[in-house]
Amino acid sequence: MNYYFDVFKIRKDFPFFINNPDIIYLDSAATSHKPSIVIEKEKEFYEKYNCNVHRTSGSFSLKVEEMCENSRKTIANFLNCDESEIFFTYSATYGINYIAYFLCINEYLGNDDEVIITEMEHHANLLPFLNLSKIFGFKVKVWKMNEKLELDIEELQKIISDKTKLLAVTHMSNVLGVVNDIENIVKICKDRGLMVLVDGAQGIVHNHVDLKKWDLDFYVFSAHKLYGPLGLGVVYVNKKHSKKKKPAFSGGSIISYVSLDKITYLDSPYFFEPGTQAFAQIFAFKYAIEYLKNLNLEKVKMYEIGLTKYLLEKLKELDFVEIYGNYEEVNDKRFAIVPFNVVNLHSHDVSFVLDRFNVLIRVGHHCAQLIHHKLGIPGSCRVSIAFYNTKEDIDKFIEALKQVKFLISKN
Ligand code: ALA
Repeated sequence: MNYYFDVFKIRKDFPFFINNPDIIYLDSAATSHKPSIVIEKEKEFYEKYNCNVHRTSGSFSLKVEEMCENSRKTIANFLNCDESEIFFTYSATYGINYIAYFLCINEYLGNDDEVIITEMEHHANLLPFLNLSKIFGFKVKVWKMNEKLELDIEELQKIISDKTKLLAVTHMSNVLGVVNDIENIVKICKDRGLMVLVDGAQGIVHNHVDLKKWDLDFYVFSAHKLYGPLGLGVVYVNKKHSKKKKPAFSGGSIISYVSLDKITYLDSPYFFEPGTQAFAQIFAFKYAIEYLKNLNLEKVKMYEIGLTKYLLEKLKELDFVEIYGNYEEVNDKRFAIVPFNVVNLHSHDVSFVLDRFNVLIRVGHHCAQLIHHKLGIPGSCRVSIAFYNTKEDIDKFIEALKQVKFLISKN
C-alpha cells in the first residue's frame, strides 16, 4: 500500500484523535472529524466578529458578509461553478427538501409528471419525492440496481418516458461505496429532456466534482461530512433555474421590496437564503476545503482506494463475514465504504462488542432501507474510511472483529 502523505503527521491536525488516542474511528461516512483550523475558525468567529449580515451597514456586519462571501467563492471554485449558483442551508437533507418543494411550487413537477429515484438512495433523496408526490400528483419510478448492486445505464434508458421530468440520484452510495458515473447519466438525461438532482453527500468527499463540465441541475451536500462544521448544507442550483421564481421558503433577507400586494425578490443566491444563516459555520467551512485541497484530492483518493483494498483483503480472510456488493475489485468506482455482516449475528450486537474494543463503525439500515430490502436483510455493519485512517486502524478493527466472533460463539 502506498502512503501518499504522512498520515501520522496529518492525524496531529485532528483534535479528536489527540483527545481519543485509543479510538479506531471507521465511521466517517456518518460524520468526519475536523482539522483544528476549522474548529479554531468557528471559535474565532464568535470571539471576534459575531454579527448578523444584510441587516445593517455597520463595519462588523460588512466584515461578516465579506467573510461568508469569501467562503462561497472558495466552495464555488472547488465545485467549478459560479458563486451565484451556491446557496447555504442547514444540511444536505434540508437542501434536497428545498429543491423538491421548489420544483413542485414552480410547476416543474405536477400531475402526470414522473420523477425517477434509484434503489440506491439515502432516504434524504427518496422521501421528499415520495411525500410530495402525494400532494402534487406526480409519479415516482424506481431505477433498480442490478445483481451486482450497481445502476445500469440501459435500465435508466428503459424507464425514462415522455412524462419523466427529473432524475434524483446519489453520486456515491452511503452503504455500498459505489460511485455513479454522473457525467454519463447527465448526458443521457439531457438528451431525454430530464433535470438531474445529485445527492453529493458522500460523493464530494472522495471524488473530484466539476459542475461546469457536468452541467447538471442541482447538486447537494453537507459540510460536516467534508471535514467541515455541523449544521451547514450547500446547494448548487444551475443558474438556468434561479431566475425570479417562487421561493420554497421565504422570510427576511431574500427580498428587495415588500408590500401586501407586491414582493420583489433578490437575485440568487440570496433569494434561496431566508433567515439568519450559519455564519460561523460558513466561515469555518472554507478552511476545511482549503485543508483538503492542500492535501491534494487525487492523492487522498489513491490513498483511500489503497486502504480499502487492504481492508477487503483482511475482511475476506474471515470466513464468518459476508461482504455485500461487487467488491471483487476495489477501484475508483467503488471504495471507502464497505458493508458486511457477521454471519448469524445482528449488526447491533457486532457494534456493541466492537465498541468495547474502541472500534466505532455504523450499523443498521444506514437510512437506505431499499438497499437492505434488495439484500433481504434488516441491516448491515458499515466501515467507512477517510484519509486520516491508517493500516493500523484496519488491523485493530479486524482483531476486534475476531473477538466478536469468539465472544459471541462462546455464549
Ligand atoms: N447519512 C449518514 C450516513 O450514511 C448519516 O451515515
